[in-house]
This record gives sequence, structure tokens and C-alpha cells, in this order.
Amino acid sequence: MLQNIQDITAQFPILGERVNGHRFVYLDNAATTQKPRRVLDSLLDVYEHHNGNVHRGVHSMSNSATRMFEGSRGIVAQFIGSAPEEVIFTRGTTESINLVASTYGMEHVGKGDEVIVSLMEHHSNFVPWQQLCERRGATLRVVPLTIDGSIDYEAYKSMLTPRTKVVAIAHAGNVTGVINPVREIISEAHKAGAKVLIDAAQSVPHIAIDVKDLDCDFLVFSGHKIYAPTGIGVLYGKREILDAMPPYQYGGEMIRKVRIESTSFNDVPYRFEAGTPDYAGAIALGEALRFVSEIGLDAIARHEQELTRYALDALSSIEGLHIIGGANAARTSVISFVIDDVHPYDLGMLIDHFGVAVRTGHHCAEPLIDSLGLLGTVRASFAVYNTQDDIHQLVKAINKVLPMLR
Ligand SMILES: Cc1ncc(COP(=O)(O)O)c(C=O)c1O
Repeated sequence: MLQNIQDITAQFPILGERVNGHRFVYLDNAATTQKPRRVLDSLLDVYEHHNGNVHRGVHSMSNSATRMFEGSRGIVAQFIGSAPEEVIFTRGTTESINLVASTYGMEHVGKGDEVIVSLMEHHSNFVPWQQLCERRGATLRVVPLTIDGSIDYEAYKSMLTPRTKVVAIAHAGNVTGVINPVREIISEAHKAGAKVLIDAAQSVPHIAIDVKDLDCDFLVFSGHKIYAPTGIGVLYGKREILDAMPPYQYGGEMIRKVRIESTSFNDVPYRFEAGTPDYAGAIALGEALRFVSEIGLDAIARHEQELTRYALDALSSIEGLHIIGGANAARTSVISFVIDDVHPYDLGMLIDHFGVAVRTGHHCAEPLIDSLGLLGTVRASFAVYNTQDDIHQLVKAINKVLPMLR
């Protein structure tokens, strides 16, 4: 347990709310995290004291916003071990993946080529590649999972051929929390001449990442899953790959020169940031990463792992409850479960009456949920501010509502 957990929890105003007359217990962190006061303050601070459109003005407010925006790019770069110009601000994981599929993918994936994803991918890292393959006459190969929900590594290796152009894999699954051996996945893909995109939406808040050490070609994540506001996300790409990629969207900021006859484009990262960026969101993302770094990602991970073990133990006392995946695999702080004869949606809705927020359904991972023959799962996921009391309230709520559902 983090020593100063009460101080940490107190920094999140929403956790003081009461829901249906009960203490609010937020266990839907894999969907989005709550925001500490300092992140909310940083948003307000931009609009109250530094607001001006970035990179455009000669005036003080614009310069101030630009300095803070670019400062934030530096904080993100430091957080993932990249150079600042390799950090592109997007709206989130989904936009980052669509950007790569529509630019790198459209240029490098052709008829007869293959793109590899896994069965555990979120729709965001599945549908863009599926659609790209359809448009280009390429084939989408889907790596199966082992019985415990881990990637079938041998099957993966056997799928790699000279036709493989892109491998797009989650660092950690959003349904089971299973952590994939991405370093090995990347190294094998490179031997086959393929580029690798790592969907780090579920890992960046829990696992220290160094993109140079991993040697991934692209890495993507969303700010809102790591205590930052919604609407801001990151695409990391290796400089030499980004330099050779065509633009994604056209407009202001991404150009160097516009003439009636033709347009030349700006350098990275600006070439991929058409229009006014969400600079307030980006600045707040920088503040969120400062918050995480001050506590320490390793300390946060230890705390979450302890809670996850505690929750797995407490949940296993409930008759008919089955944990989905991850029995023998490393996992983040995500637990999906089903209960015999109980619809996940009914359970989620009823425990909300006791103040407990969990996610229910297919979690935007229908290929995985279908393959398990399930309608969906209930998912509890933990963040830095969760406590054992939260888990007690979850288990108590489940035990209260089960007799109504059976
Ligand atoms: C593994 C994974 N990839 C992608 C996404 C999509 O993220 P966003 O909706 O922020 O773009 C999520 C969100 O749950 C996710 O868990």
C-alpha cells in the first residue's frame, strides 16, 4: 500500500462524491481515470493566465501558451524515452492508430501484404487495420491466444513472413490485463522486416516504458487513462519513419509554404498536427505525467499489483465467480470476471446502487469476447487512488445483489 494513500486520494475531488447515498468507489480506471486537482487547475490556469493560439502569435499570451505546450511535449518525451520531435499530439489512442494506418499503412501495405494483430486487441487497434487491408487487398492475420489469455507466441512467430508489413499489438490487454512480451514481439517482427505499433493505452499508466529500449516503431496512448483530460493523446514514431510519412490531415500549422499551385509541408511533429491543437489538454497531460513521476510509476505499480492480488483473492470467495484470463500471465491492475447465471450488465447496474462503478460488456474487444463464447464480462480496474476499502465495498455490493439476480 502506498504510505501516503490518503493524501493521494484527497487530491481527487470527485472521489469525495457520494453515489446513491454511498461512498463513491471508482473501479473503471481502464476506461478512464479520475483527475487530480493539480491537473484540473492546470487546465484552468491556461485559460485564465496563458491563453493564446500556439505557434501563431507575436504576443505574450501566445508565446506563453506555446512555451507551455512545447514544454509538455518535452515532458511526454522524457516519460517515454523519446526525442520531443518524435511526440505527436493527437486526440487519443484511436486517432494515433488511424493516423498510422492511413499514412504509413496506405503507403506501405499493398496487395498480397499482411498486417498482424492479436485476438485481444481493442477495436481501435483492430478495425483501422482491418479496413486498411480491405482497401489495399492485403490480409489481416490475427494471432490467437493461449488458454490463459496470453498471446500464442509460437503462433505469432509462425505468422511472420516477408509479406508482413505491420504488426500492431497491445502492450497490455484491456479485458484481461494480460501483459504481452512486446520486446520479443518487436524483435521478431524486425527480423521479418515489419514495422511494429504498440498500443500502450493500458500499459503507460502502469508500466515504465522506454521506446528506444523497446525499439518499437510507433507507440500510442491516451492522456485520459493516465489522469489527464479527455481529448489529448500521443503518437510516438521513430524520427526517420515520421520524416518519410505523408501528412494525415491538411490545414494550418502543418504547412511550410502554400501557393495556388502547390503546398510544401512542415517538419515533424507539426506536419501531423494540422489545425489548432488541444494545447490546454496537452499542458494538462504534462501536469498529469509530473503527478505520476513524483509518486513514481514503480511505486504506483506496486500499489496496484498489491490491490489486484487482494481483489483476486477476495473475489474468489464469491460462489460461481470466474476470473477471465491471466491465471499464469503477468497482468496489469485489470480483472474481468463473470458469475454463473448472472448477466454482467445486471450486476454492474445493481452494484452502482451501492456506489460502486465497474465496466460491463464487451469492452470494445468483440473478437476476444466472441471467442470466449461470452456475452461480456464485469471489469474492475484499479488506479493509484484505490484502496482495500474499495475492494471490500465491491465484494459487499456483489454479495448483496446476487440473491436478486439468481
Ligand atoms: C488497449 C486499448 N486501446 C485503445 C483504446 C482506445 O482509447 P481511446 O478511446 O482513448 O482512443 C483503449 C480504450 O479503452 C484501450 O484500452
